[in-house]
Amino acid sequence: MNSIAIDGPSGAGKSSLSRKIAEELGYIYVDTGALYRSIGLAVLQAGKNTKKADEIEALLPQIDLALRHVDGEQRVFLGSEDVSEAIREEAVSMAASDVSAHPAVRAFLLETQRRLARENNVIMDGRDIGTVVLPNANIKIYLTATVEDRAMRRTLQLREAGKQADYETVKKDVEQRDYNDSHRAAAPLKQADDAVLVDTTGLEFEQSLALLLSLIKERLIDAT
Ligand code: DC
Repeated sequence: MNSIAIDGPSGAGKSSLSRKIAEELGYIYVDTGALYRSIGLAVLQAGKNTKKADEIEALLPQIDLALRHVDGEQRVFLGSEDVSEAIREEAVSMAASDVSAHPAVRAFLLETQRRLARENNVIMDGRDIGTVVLPNANIKIYLTATVEDRAMRRTLQLREAGKQADYETVKKDVEQRDYNDSHRAAAPLKQADDAVLVDTTGLEFEQSLALLLSLIKERLIDAT
């Protein structure tokens, strides 16, 4: 099985690009952020504090998390509830960032991610895919862009979804999450030594897509 690891900070375009690349290559797209978001949502629903490691560790065995692919589209379930939309709320973004710092949460999700890559050709995006989850991935890409670019894309995305979004507030949020994700002790966000750095600052979606596809195809051919 082939695996492509895409890591980078939030708002760099990882998920929309990965989804499209998966479609193009006939791979399964695994959005690992959705797993952390689901745990964040479960913790909020249980009325627990997302920063309290012991409370969350005690809750984990009760969390029934499942990830299914329907027509190439990833859906996440907590029990029988499809939470794929609910996990996109801003409150859940911060909760996900908080819970992802706890080693027990990371350990809880590790095997799920590795099993998906054992059983399928995958393009998997997250923060620690190339460094921890799939250290032997065929291709590793570290996707980034300036904080201003990422905050602007996120603001426009929220507005397109009919939500109110103030650029300065979104930017502060992005900066806070960047800080949390790269300063935590457990599997912090960082570029793997063997990852290719791709900076999408100032690029349109189609330009980023073309760049990534040519890079991936070239390396997949090299690998065979
Ligand atoms: O990619 P995202 O914004 O949906 O991710 C939500 C949070 O989950 C993010 O703040 C960091 C965390 N995360 C992580 O720690 N490791 C991953 N592989 C994916 C996401």
